Amino acid sequence: ARSPLIVPSVLPADLGRLGAEVADLAEAGVDRIQWDVMDGVFVPNLTFGPDVVAAARRSTVVPFEAHLMVVEPDRLLHRYVEAGCDLVIVHAEACPHLHRTLAGIRRLGARSGVALNPHTPPEVVAHVLEETDLVLAMTVNPGFGGQAYLPAVESKVARLRRMIDESGLAIELEVDGGITDTTIVGAAEAGADVFISGSWLFDHPDGKAAGVDLLRRRAT
Ligand code: DX5
Repeated sequence: ARSPLIVPSVLPADLGRLGAEVADLAEAGVDRIQWDVMDGVFVPNLTFGPDVVAAARRSTVVPFEAHLMVVEPDRLLHRYVEAGCDLVIVHAEACPHLHRTLAGIRRLGARSGVALNPHTPPEVVAHVLEETDLVLAMTVNPGFGGQAYLPAVESKVARLRRMIDESGLAIELEVDGGITDTTIVGAAEAGADVFISGSWLFDHPDGKAAGVDLLRRRAT
C-alpha cells in the first residue's frame, strides 16, 4: 500500500497573511497544499481566484492542487494551471462532459482529479478512470470548513478503492472534510491514501508539524 499523503486546505488560513501561512504549511512537512476554489454558485461560498493562487505560488515550492467547486470548470482549468497548480480537481456533478474535461486538464500539463459529493455514487467515475490521476470522495457537503465528517461515505471509499485496484491504474484516492486524528483512521481503513485537513490541522494545539505527523501516523 502506498504511504499516506497529508494535504492541508488553505481555507482556514489567516488570509491577511496568506504568503506566510503557505510558507508555514510547507515548513510543517505537508505533501501538497489544496486550494478550495468556490464560485458561490456550485457551493454557497466564494473563495480563491487564480491570481491569489499565483501570488501564493511565490511563497513555497510545495506542489499546489486546486479543488474546483465551481460550475462550468472548463472555463477555469488553464487559469489554475498557469497559476501554478500541478493537479486540478473538478466535480463530476458540474461536468456534463467529464471524460473530455479530465483529458483537457492533462492536455494543459497538469494531473487530473474528479471529486464526488457525498450523494454521488462511485460508478460515476467507472468509465473515466483512464483519464484520472486522483478521485476525491467528499466526506462533508462542500462549501465550508469545520463541518462534521460523514462516516457513511466510508462504504463509497471502499468501493472506489476496489475499482481503482481492479483497474491497475496509479490513481490517488483522496478524502476531504472533517478529517481529524480520529476520523482519519476509518477513512484510511476504507482505502483512502490522500487526506485533506483544514480546521483540525490549523487548530492543532501542538502546531502544524506535530499535527501532520500525527495524521500520517494514524493513517498508516
Ligand atoms: C469543504 C472544504 C473543506 C476543507 C477542509 O468544501 O473542501 O472540506 O477542504 O475543511 P475541514 O478539514 O475543516 O473540514
